[in-house]
Amino acid sequence: EKAGYKHFMQKEIFEQPRAIIDTLRSVVDLNQERLRLSDLNISQDLVKTVKRIHLVACGTSYHACLVAKYLLEQLCHVPVDVDLGSEFRYRGPLLNSNSLLLVVSQSGETADTRAALKEGLERGAHCRAVVNVVGSTLARMAHGVLYTHAGPEIGVASTKTFTTQLVALYLFALHWAHLSGRIQPRQLSYHIQGLRELPGKIEEVLSAEQTLREWARRFMDREHFLYLGRGLLYPIALEGALKMKEISYIHAEGYAAGEMKHGPIALVDEKMPVVALIQKGPLYEKMLSNVQEVKARGGKVLAFVEGDRDVRLDDDVLQFCVPQTAPWLAPIVFTVPLQLLAYHMADLRGTDVDQPRNLAKSVTVE
Ligand code: F6R
Repeated sequence: EKAGYKHFMQKEIFEQPRAIIDTLRSVVDLNQERLRLSDLNISQDLVKTVKRIHLVACGTSYHACLVAKYLLEQLCHVPVDVDLGSEFRYRGPLLNSNSLLLVVSQSGETADTRAALKEGLERGAHCRAVVNVVGSTLARMAHGVLYTHAGPEIGVASTKTFTTQLVALYLFALHWAHLSGRIQPRQLSYHIQGLRELPGKIEEVLSAEQTLREWARRFMDREHFLYLGRGLLYPIALEGALKMKEISYIHAEGYAAGEMKHGPIALVDEKMPVVALIQKGPLYEKMLSNVQEVKARGGKVLAFVEGDRDVRLDDDVLQFCVPQTAPWLAPIVFTVPLQLLAYHMADLRGTDVDQPRNLAKSVTVE
């Protein structure tokens, strides 16, 4: 049932183009370029009523929420808070009938996320869920649901469920922006066009799997990694580092690249590989100067760079070309090579990739 792949995780990484198409098809009328999100149960009145959105999740799903904050604030102009499930209810969140609580979960069973949703329901917030498992507890508890159509995920590490969460949250933001009159049909069709092209771009990354295996072989003996990103790719640095930790047991930390000089740069020496995520746009030059800072201290840089294959950063920087997408979609394409890097690192180190030590697929106790 692994369909020729060595592990479920590898199979699930390769299933991402299909999972994204299925998630899109479930809500986007691709001919008419309209969104059908009726199960989410969001009306124009609700959009007018809601003054703040709270996104709550755990682990990888939390990283999807961090990306969604950018999308919702910029496309919908609504203030967004993001919380970890295990923190949310203990900080006395200010929830009322002007709040929308959106919980995000693959399993729909995670105990801390469930407790957050219960808190929201008790305090009269409007509650919605993005989940993968149909009929799961969160799906039943919330007042509306948006399903990711990733299919069953067997590997403990989330892969296709993360990228489909990012797609679903993007669709959520577009729907909200449309209902609030912030985007017009023409802009909506621009966004949908970008989403349509996404599976092909992911295929391009997947076809470069061997490069990432070689990189993994070069660095498999290291015990520490830093991951740096800015803007939309900051949460992806966190996610890349989480994947590396949980399956290869290499210590990895994700940082906002601008934070380097506030502490973590002290860690950099020739033994520290640094993964740098570099998107085109306003933060491009800033990321390049972060790369120089690392190099000046002897660190080895593994750069994932959006766009042109011909643009070379530097001869002693390892460089992987990530296909260019519409700006909002960069987090999705950048995720895939980081999954492959972590996967091959784990495989080469001989860990139990699909069942990492001490972890469970669904954390149903606090
Ligand atoms: C990491 C991973 C976990 C889950 C977390 C939340 O690869 O899979 O961090 O993301 O346990 O699980 P769900 O999304 O089921 O609520």
